This record gives sequence, C-alpha cells and structure tokens, in this order.
Amino acid sequence: MQIGIDKIGFYTSNLYVDMAELAQARNEEVGKYLVGIGQSKMAVIPPSQDIVTLAANAAARILSPIDKEAIDLVIVATESGIDNSKAAAVYVANLLGLSHQIRAVEMKEACYAATAALQLAKGHIALNPNKKALIIGADIARYGLKTKGEPTQGGGAVAMLVAKDPQILALDAEASYYSKDIMDFWRPLGHSEAMVDGKFSTNVYLDFFNQVFSAYSQKTKRTVEDFGALLFHLPYTKQGLKGLRQAVAHADEATQARLLAQFEFAREYNRNVGNLYTGSLYLSLLSLLENSQDLVAGQRLGLYSYGSGAQAEFFSGILQPGFQDALIGHQELLAHRKQVSVAEYEQFYQSVLANEANRQLEVSADPGQFVLAGVKDFKRQYQRQE
Ligand code: COA
Repeated sequence: MQIGIDKIGFYTSNLYVDMAELAQARNEEVGKYLVGIGQSKMAVIPPSQDIVTLAANAAARILSPIDKEAIDLVIVATESGIDNSKAAAVYVANLLGLSHQIRAVEMKEACYAATAALQLAKGHIALNPNKKALIIGADIARYGLKTKGEPTQGGGAVAMLVAKDPQILALDAEASYYSKDIMDFWRPLGHSEAMVDGKFSTNVYLDFFNQVFSAYSQKTKRTVEDFGALLFHLPYTKQGLKGLRQAVAHADEATQARLLAQFEFAREYNRNVGNLYTGSLYLSLLSLLENSQDLVAGQRLGLYSYGSGAQAEFFSGILQPGFQDALIGHQELLAHRKQVSVAEYEQFYQSVLANEANRQLEVSADPGQFVLAGVKDFKRQYQRQE
C-alpha cells in the first residue's frame, strides 16, 4: 500500500513588506536582501492571525466533507506555540468542525517537527488504512526588529492530508535522520523572539545535509542523479541554494542544470513569503508543484528537513499520476496581498498579542476565514468569518 501526501494547502496573511524597502530602511544594500539572502517579499502577520488561525485557514482550503469524516489524527507542528499546555491542534480541529473521535496533538523540534509528524502519520495510516491524517506546520518567524535575522522572518501554515493511495506524493519507505544537541537557534520560555547564532546555524544545516544524504545514499544506492528535484528547508532561499550547490557539486552537468532549474520554481513562493519555520520545506514542495512545468509523474523528489537544535532528515517520494489535478493553486492568494510600509510592519510587529489577560483585536480588515478576535481571561477568542 502506498501512503503519502494526498492534498496540500497553504495560507499566509494578506500583508507583506517589500524587501528592497526594508533593506533601504536598515541601511543595507538591496542586493544583500534580494540576492544574498534571496528574499523579495516578507509576510507581515497581523495580531488577528496566530498559528491556530493560520493552520485552520490553510487546512480549510483543502478539506472536503469526506476528508473531515475520515480524519482521526491531527498534528500541528510549530515552534510558535500559544500555550504551554493545550495543543494548537485541539483548537484547529474544533474550528474545522472535525469529529471528536480523533487524536489531536502539537509537536515541537524547531523547523523539523512537521516532518516527524508526516512520518508518524504515515505509520498511522499503515495501521488504519481507511483513515486520514491532517498534518500542519504553522509558524510566525520572529527574530526582532533591526537584527541580522530580521530579513529572514515571515509566517504562515502548510496543511497536508496524509492518506493511502495519495494523489500527489507517495512517500518512500527509506529515510535517514540525524540528531545532535547543539545551540544554533533557540527560544527560551518567556521570549517572543528567537535567539540565533546565525552563521553557525547555516553551517550546521549544511553539515547535517551531508550526514543524512550520505546515509540515505548508502541505504538506497541512490545518487542526486536519481531525483527529479531536490527540496530543502528554506529559512531564506539562499540557504537552500547553498545546500543544493553542495549536493550537486559532483553531479553530471545535465543533473546540475535540471536540479538548479527546478530549485528556482521550488523557491518562488518562499521568496515571496519568507520563513515559515516548520512549513518552509512544504511550502517549497508546493511552490515546485504549482510553478514547474517540467515535472513528470513517476519522478522521485528528495526532501531535506532541518530543525535547529538540531535534527535533520532526508526522505523521498514518488510523484503520482495526475498530481496536478489535486493542486488548488496559491498564486492568487499571494498576488492579492497588500503591501505595507516598513513603519506599518514595525507597528504590526509590536502589537502582537503577548501575555495579556484581556484584549479585543480589530479583525474587520482581516480577510481570513478564521481570525483571532482577542483574549478574555487568558482564553484566546477565535472567530469564523463568512
Ligand atoms: N549583493 C549580493 N549579495 C550580497 C550583497 C549584495 N550587495 N551584500 C551581501 N551579500 C551576500 C553575502 O555575501 C552573503 O552571502 P553568502 O551567505 O553566500 O556568503 C549574504 O549576502 C548574507 O550576508 P551576510 O553579511 O553574511 O549577512 P548577515 O551577517 O547579516 O547574516 C544571516 C545573514 C542569514 C546569517 C542572518 O540573516 C541570520 O542569522 N538569519 C537567521 C539564520 C537562520 O535562519 N538560521 C536557521 C538555519 S535553518
């Protein structure tokens, strides 16, 4: 039985800041942000969206009533949790109107956890072939205003429905993983911004790629030549390009050209949204699927997942016949966003809901189906908009 990604959907806010404007405001060369970091636009998440609403908005785009009935496992992977105890998945399942006969939990390991969730879902479906699992990576990347990490912020959620006989990508049995206790990026309790040893983290990302890719190659005897495309976790798109260049350094010319060309499609959405943390690898998958014209059913895609701290995994899957028909298209969502100035972005950044007992939020300008309307007695108030 084949198991894998049956549907995939994405959601981000309707606001963005232009990276050329941000570079100018920070007295940086525009080329550094656009080329050196590889980002063109950065999603600005207003207080009326948090990981729960982003996750619910992403999932609502792909789920049919039949899917909802079949789902009995919901995992929200995030490092932007809104509660130390209650899982975001419980809120999300309620907003989506899912059955009460489900397992709903939250998972954490920096940007990696959605991959662990996907693999767990695969095992769950193997044991329960008539069920479906909903896996969502949802995050808001925050490094702080005027920090080096600032141009690598962003936010949004990617939702994936995992099922037998998937329409899009059947996951291969083989995967390789690597874990080591290091401090390249972390967010201590009580801090709303990440701490990062930026240069160190970019090097560990590349070292871990070597670890997991060579282990995968040894196991499977596959080389980079065997892939139609290689996908990377993209905290910013230049990071993935560095990983890809390292991966193809000894490949033949045709393979290099193919994989580098596909990478441009795979980074298109990420370049215009920014960092999603857990969802970044899967946004890149979606970007490739919806933007490349050169993909063929039967091709193998390789995926590199990395989470600081650190944990990495390389795994793969086979594109399924007719996969294009299962895609819903996200170009319009991105094209219809509104640009905000750097000053407005800073205002949104500073007005995010913190550890407050009571506050009402303005939701009228938020087009999301699900919004955060405020907090009462420390209880978040979610609302569905028609
Ligand atoms: N035109 C083109 N490229 C330019 C440029 C210009 N005018 N000016 C600078 N650059 C390039 C640099 O050469 C560098 O390229 P390289 O990485 O290939 O060497 C790149 O832009 C970044 O410049 P740098 O001076 O190294 O940036 P920085 O010191 O501000 O830090 C990060 C960059 C990425 C380390 C920082 O943004 C950060 O810490 N981000 C978070 C890290 C992260 O996401 N870690 C998680 C990994 S999973």
